Amino acid sequence: MVSKPSKKKAAEEIEELRKEINYHNYRYYVLDSPVISDQEYDRLLRRLEELEKMYPDLVTPDSPTQKVGAPPREEFGTVTHSIPMLSLQNAFSEGEVVEFDRRIKRLLGMSQIEYVAEPKIDGLAVELVYRNGVYVQGSTRGDGYVGEDVTDNLRTIRSLPLRLIETKLPVPGLLEVRGEVYMSKKDFAELNRRREREGEPLFANPRNAAAGSVRQLDPSVTASRKLNIFVYAIGRAEGVEFSKHSEVLDSFRSWGLRVNREIRICDSIEKAIRFHQDLEARRKDLDYEIDGVVLKVNRLDLQGQLGEISRSPRWAIAYKFEPEQATTVIKDIVVQVGRTGALTPVAVMEPVHVGGVEVKRATLHNQDEIDRKDVRIGDTVIIQRAGDVIPEVVAVVKEKRTGKERKFRIPDTCPVCGADVYKDPDEAVSRCTNISCPARIKQSIKHFASKGAMDIDGLGSKLINQLVDRGLVTTVADLYRLKKSELAGLERLADKSAQNVIDAIEKSKQTTLARLIYALGIRHVGEHVARVLADSFDSIDAIEKASLDELTSIREIGPKVGESIYAFFRQKQNQKVIRDLVSAGVRFAPPRHATRLEGKVFVFTGALHDYKRSEAKKIVEQLGGTVASSVSKKVDFVVVGEDPGSKLEEAQRLGIKIIDEATFKKIIS
Ligand code: IVH
Repeated sequence: MVSKPSKKKAAEEIEELRKEINYHNYRYYVLDSPVISDQEYDRLLRRLEELEKMYPDLVTPDSPTQKVGAPPREEFGTVTHSIPMLSLQNAFSEGEVVEFDRRIKRLLGMSQIEYVAEPKIDGLAVELVYRNGVYVQGSTRGDGYVGEDVTDNLRTIRSLPLRLIETKLPVPGLLEVRGEVYMSKKDFAELNRRREREGEPLFANPRNAAAGSVRQLDPSVTASRKLNIFVYAIGRAEGVEFSKHSEVLDSFRSWGLRVNREIRICDSIEKAIRFHQDLEARRKDLDYEIDGVVLKVNRLDLQGQLGEISRSPRWAIAYKFEPEQATTVIKDIVVQVGRTGALTPVAVMEPVHVGGVEVKRATLHNQDEIDRKDVRIGDTVIIQRAGDVIPEVVAVVKEKRTGKERKFRIPDTCPVCGADVYKDPDEAVSRCTNISCPARIKQSIKHFASKGAMDIDGLGSKLINQLVDRGLVTTVADLYRLKKSELAGLERLADKSAQNVIDAIEKSKQTTLARLIYALGIRHVGEHVARVLADSFDSIDAIEKASLDELTSIREIGPKVGESIYAFFRQKQNQKVIRDLVSAGVRFAPPRHATRLEGKVFVFTGALHDYKRSEAKKIVEQLGGTVASSVSKKVDFVVVGEDPGSKLEEAQRLGIKIIDEATFKKIIS
């Protein structure tokens, strides 16, 4: 039995524990660099809870134990922002940003302006109020003048300090801080997975999930959601003076508030534009969603001179990225048959601009997905296209339903050849059972001829469709028997083009083993696995003869992939196609066992002069090395290009070897 300390002793220990726990919260949630184990942390927190239980009157609202949900409320109170929370003007092109810079220079009569460039976090804007360093109020932006009082909800956010840290820089008596509450992509995916299991409606994106979680009348619900915060602006602050926005951010950091790491000071608009490009390229690697870069004039006196216009400051602009989501209407749902026979339902939509291109079709994946999202013909939907990813339907906007929408079901017979459709109960997809289905043949030939495979220039979809429809080609090996006269007879193919295609087919005979393996279109064998196989075997023959054990003993080849490869080579038709390809003259250069950079891990930051990021990555991989997206102790080299990001600082902190482009070239040459 542990004895109960006197109230005075308890109060002292409580104060000590709170300081210590606050510090560890800061290390963990703000700096992302904890200095104690989870168990030690839990021990401190438990001891604090124990003492507070003994003396409930010693509990204060800023105690780390108070990061749990308070009782539910009937409705939110309102908070009037003492300084309005403005919105930002948007820019969608480089030209508009250059114009913004010109306008500022003209208004100020200056020739050079320093900007702070910050990621525009896609979340919910909030204001936090600290009195004497203690968190006392939190509110949403609302209409910019009046927001909702969400004090108890925001209190549950782990990276939101309930008490600011006193450093050399005194904490102001009153401090209003603005920032964005968001949910990480990982936590969003996890939350939706859980909601799906429990049959609850899914959130369309992390922003909706964050906003929905903050605007909960029951703070314990908010507490159960993993929210996070970045702060980026100041409201009122008593007893401190700043001359630059970057100083404000530095002070926020030193008080323990969480400031984004990807913030740059740019001494020209060109640098800011470059930062925007770099960040857009890295957007998918960040674990939170951003929809642009906010550019802010750094000097606060200049901000004051510029003032504001129609509720937006003249000194800042949101330079947006290509949107990744858009809203449109589904006109029809059609079914595509792929090379493995898989029937994929595809939404045919009103054309819409998203991710930088016009999109008319989006995949609905399979019947289970259609049912799960309850997608119907005629529905208004949110679609998403991120990077090179195939556009997909994310969610239905159910509020827009009129009652005229029609449900869709995958047919029981193949829409192309009429054969039966089979659905393995363990799989989500339905498949056409006819291996000679023209749709399957066409797709496998398209894949065979594609860039990463045999790379046959000029052999496009239209030509392939005609070749298959006329029975000129039934397997990929038939391509090598084609005669110019056969091609020249086809619709819209001039003599010269026919010769070009014949030449391209001929040229494709000289290939690499990896390309050939990939071209065969074995299920689960993408370019990477094909390369792994090519590195482990010297010939197609050797792979064909390999046992299942031999295949799965290769690093990176698991049971599912191994079985698929093994089964592919047991099929008589496949063996024949391979024999035909070889006798038609398909040859590959003996594999180069590139191992010079084996085990070496590279990270790139900033723009390289002579290579695109993807090219540099390919080179490293061809030499047996790997490329990571973030710096950790496992990394061997950090290659620094122009305008490096925070990875450089991280590499310096961890003492990892930093090299420039010239040295990188030497290493790979
Ligand atoms: S500064 C007066 N900085 O963008 C300037 N805003 O359209 C106030 N946002 O309501 C905003 N990241 O929700 C600023 N780094 C950032 C931001 C940011 C996201 C949001 C914020 C604001 C909206 C403006």
